[in-house]
Amino acid sequence: MITPATPEAIANAASLIGAGKLVAFPTETVYGLGADATNPDAVAKVFSAKARPSCNPLIVHVASWEMADAVADISGDLRALCEAVWPGPLTVVAPRRPDADIAQDATAGLTTIAVRWPAHPVAQALIEASGTPIVAPSANRSGHVSATRAEHVEADLGDAVAMILATPNDTPACEVGVESTIVAQAENGHLVILRTGAINAALIVQITGRPPGERGDVISATPSAPGQLESHYAPKAAVRLNVTSPEAGDALLAFGSSVPVTGGPIRNLSQTGDLDEAAANLYRDLRELDLSGAKTISVMPIPAIGIGIAINDRLRRAAAPR
Ligand code: TXA
Ligand code: MG
Repeated sequence: MITPATPEAIANAASLIGAGKLVAFPTETVYGLGADATNPDAVAKVFSAKARPSCNPLIVHVASWEMADAVADISGDLRALCEAVWPGPLTVVAPRRPDADIAQDATAGLTTIAVRWPAHPVAQALIEASGTPIVAPSANRSGHVSATRAEHVEADLGDAVAMILATPNDTPACEVGVESTIVAQAENGHLVILRTGAINAALIVQITGRPPGERGDVISATPSAPGQLESHYAPKAAVRLNVTSPEAGDALLAFGSSVPVTGGPIRNLSQTGDLDEAAANLYRDLRELDLSGAKTISVMPIPAIGIGIAINDRLRRAAAPR
């Protein structure tokens, strides 16, 4: 099931995609659960494997401007941002081209489409070998902690996936560790961040010369994007945030060099207080603490700067009432 991403394995994976099967693959953010975006039956399999509500549209992954422009009308500041960042951890929501060869259910019937050109070489090779855009939600059960290792995908989705591509030992799977930043364009031309990630507001200012607008500016502000509001990224254990004195026996998700003792299991996102390292470790550490069977995972305060904003966003949803 888990197959190292050799050139032969990628060719096989592309044949599976062509045959309407599901293939999980690493990206620089999190693992994706991939299917041929043009094939309605394959897209339906993605929704059922994840138990994902059909109202929650998928991101279409491309590996060239040609592919992106065939499905979406990306213009103005949004295009400038893509030109600066792609390939990379950025998804843009743009008008869907009326003649886009993309299954209707992939975009949940919306007039917009979410497009991303990932940087990970395995993701790019798979899309190129498949010769088709690939829909790929995070490769976890809907609402559960995202997957950043091949083993996480196997644990969550098992037999629903025809193949899980693993990176060769010397290349990291998901270096960023949190999902792509999602950016839309408001009627007034301003860019709006719908989901935080590695690409942040400061970069948007640098590229467009103006700060991002408010969510409310985006009229179609979307399918009230699940994963944007309610409980999401949730482990089995309860999650408590900004804990400085954990209860005895709590599992502890620590950050930095001074860590309280709980008697329970501890994972440290980054002993040196490096937020990039913390993001890369976030989902693995959450999953490992959850496997310990602890009732509560206490999370130490994590600075909300840089990618720390995205880390805090994901943890807030992980802690939200279920
Ligand atoms: O980093 C990522 O983006 C990963 C990797 C695999 O590429 N993918 C990912 O997909 O996070 P997913 O399905 O877990 O999250 C996609 C988010 C959902 O919150 C969905 O509602 C939103 O994108 N979305 C998709 N199409 C949209 C649209 N037209 N308008 C607004 N939001 C949209
Ligand atoms: Mg997800």
